Amino acid sequence: MKKTQVFLTIFMFHLCVSKGQLQVGYYSETCPNAEAIVNYVVSEAAKHDPRMAPMLLRLHYQDCFVEGCDGSILINDESVTNPERGAYAHQGVGGFEQIEKAKLFLEYTCPGVVSCADIVALAARDAVVLAGGPFYEVETGRRDGLISNQSLADDMPDVDDSIDTLKSKFMNKGLSEKELVLLIGAHTIGTAACFFMPKRLYDFTGQNNSCDSDPEINPYFLPVLKQKCPKDGDINVRIPLDAETNEKFDDQILRNIKNGMAVIASDARLYDDTFTKQVVNSYVYESIWNIPTSSFLQDFAMAMVKMGRIGVKDDSNGEIRQVCSSFN
Ligand code: HEM
Ligand SMILES: *[C@@H]1O[C@H](CO)[C@@H](O)[C@H](O)[C@H]1NC(C)=O
Ligand SMILES: *[C@@H]1O[C@H](CO)[C@@H](O)[C@H](O)[C@H]1NC(C)=O
Repeated sequence: MKKTQVFLTIFMFHLCVSKGQLQVGYYSETCPNAEAIVNYVVSEAAKHDPRMAPMLLRLHYQDCFVEGCDGSILINDESVTNPERGAYAHQGVGGFEQIEKAKLFLEYTCPGVVSCADIVALAARDAVVLAGGPFYEVETGRRDGLISNQSLADDMPDVDDSIDTLKSKFMNKGLSEKELVLLIGAHTIGTAACFFMPKRLYDFTGQNNSCDSDPEINPYFLPVLKQKCPKDGDINVRIPLDAETNEKFDDQILRNIKNGMAVIASDARLYDDTFTKQVVNSYVYESIWNIPTSSFLQDFAMAMVKMGRIGVKDDSNGEIRQVCSSFN
């Protein structure tokens, strides 16, 4: 063997060890159709429901940020008191039926092999692609967690958090300030309920009147937002998170943030801070050649892979659930 080959072999081995059991194609021997089955279920569901792709993408994030990417958010079992799913921070999450449906097919095809946490991660990737975003390889091999506790979600990032709080909440999960910007870029698709808007539009500094709105909002955009989510109006009305191209997974959300057209407050906060502002600009700044200095779609994909590594469980602290909504 040549010296370089020896070096490469050692290097590859090292990479595998440092990532634990997570690897691309983890099921290629044990359940070769696993990814195709998830993809089929997601694609079919998205055909009938335009909300499906954004919901499935959000589900993966909401899962990963509480107890790691371990399917803890899926538990919905009467024998569990105060399961995580009921947490305030998980308001409006969905896509559970599709995860359970994929699991049903997978249990039929290769029983006891594919974890629910991996189904969620794969479904999120497929959702990104269906919405016109980048394809990326998903590392698999997660086990499903053994804990689902509502109070563990208390520390989730909140729409009304300051930029410093958002940065530190991401830092606590091993994600950088740059990854904070990239991952929030997921808001290029999907919708938010007016439920999340009152503070930003009417009570930003605590005065609680119609003039007390977030100064970051573009003055032309403010009346539009207020009209969609009037003071004391219906909190269940849903509005696009990307006011321009909400159906398409593109970099428009970052342009919106730059132009004061972010919809939820936490997206706007990215422009409060010198560093995160600079990151936003690096993706939208138009040089004389009209080309941004970095590629949002590629970097987003890498950030998703990184997010998918948060708190991954193995056999010592996890299992392969038979049904995603219940522990074995
Ligand atoms: C600072 C962190 C974040 C905050 C405060 C936040 C907040 C929110 C809120 C309030 C909504 C609206 C929920 C609803 O009304 O149903 C939402 C939707 C969404 N979020 Fe986030 N989010 C954050 C990060 C992320 C990340 C990291 C991702 C994915 C990588 C993500 C993906 C989504 C998607 C796709 C939707 C649309 C869901 C739908 O249409 O049903 N979010 N987010
Ligand atoms: C949930 O977590 C909280 C805080 O860690 C703890 O006090 C509580 O006992 C837990 N509940 C259950 C049912 O394990
Ligand atoms: C603001 O005023 C509305 C009534 O216009 C009230 O329902 C709401 O609770 C108030 N919010 C705060 C934070 O005081």
